[in-house]
Amino acid sequence: MEFAGFDKSFGLTNRVCLVTGGAAGIGRAIAILFLEKGAKLVLADVNATVAAIAQEICPDRDRVHTVVADLTQSDDRDRAVEAGLERFGRIDILINNAGIVLLDDALRLSEDYWDRTMAINLRAPFFLAQRVAREMIKTGGGKIVNVASQAGLIALDKHAAYCAGKAAIISMTKVLALEWARYNIQINAISPTVVLTELGRKAWAGEVGEQMKKKIPNGRFAYPEEIAACALFLASDAATMINGENLVIDGGYTIQ
Ligand SMILES: NC(=O)c1ccc[n+]([C@@H]2O[C@H](COP(=O)([O-])OP(=O)(O)OC[C@H]3O[C@@H](n4cnc5c(N)ncnc54)[C@H](O)[C@@H]3O)[C@@H](O)[C@H]2O)c1
Repeated sequence: MEFAGFDKSFGLTNRVCLVTGGAAGIGRAIAILFLEKGAKLVLADVNATVAAIAQEICPDRDRVHTVVADLTQSDDRDRAVEAGLERFGRIDILINNAGIVLLDDALRLSEDYWDRTMAINLRAPFFLAQRVAREMIKTGGGKIVNVASQAGLIALDKHAAYCAGKAAIISMTKVLALEWARYNIQINAISPTVVLTELGRKAWAGEVGEQMKKKIPNGRFAYPEEIAACALFLASDAATMINGENLVIDGGYTIQ
């Protein structure tokens, strides 16, 4: 493929982007930034507040479509993708962001916690990527960004299922990049440290959070907007030569 240049302001004008977990936290920040950059959005979330969030961040309903969907369910994933195709005709960008954290000591961790974690943090992103990639191939390519975590690179107390799922999504990202590069699909991961969202607060409240902050060279947690900025770069044409990579956004936590 020839080098076609790129928009140096990282514009996404008229790109159609499916954001999972778009009702809160990082997904919501990505939705706001991508809208500002001209994208059309499909926001899929298990939380029915997603419609109200869309209305709040973009009163222009021609540019946002919402789907209430439990993305651990195959039918719901299909429904989210088909709604996007019906409404906007194509999907150019997939942001696999929806996720949960269920913490317990490894000696006690239940099968239920393990299965629920893997269902949304690993299984759903794979099958959604597979479903969307089949559409992207028909329209000449696309970008996929998987939201992983620093937890995919290092050990965190009580995070056995979460760390395992995030390590696996980083690994899966590389395989999909290898297989789908020929279709002009680039797929990358981003790995934030603790982010100031509902999920971040749940896992890092109180003393554990203070201890974690001390170990981050930058001395603070990340803001959802900082994660959205990295997702934008990887979803933009500027990043077409980046494929199968994992962009770590951790204020230096994993460098030592
Ligand atoms: N916040 C952090 O500290 C942090 C750090 C690293 C990585 N991450 C990752 O970032 C992603 C987003 O996390 P966040 O902090 O914004 O969390 P959040 O809890 O604020 O938002 C997650 C969103 O995903 C949705 N969701 C959950 N299960 C779903 C399902 N089955 N189907 C559809 N939607 C579902 C929720 O309803 C919610 O709107 C997750 O993958 C998480 O693992 C978060």
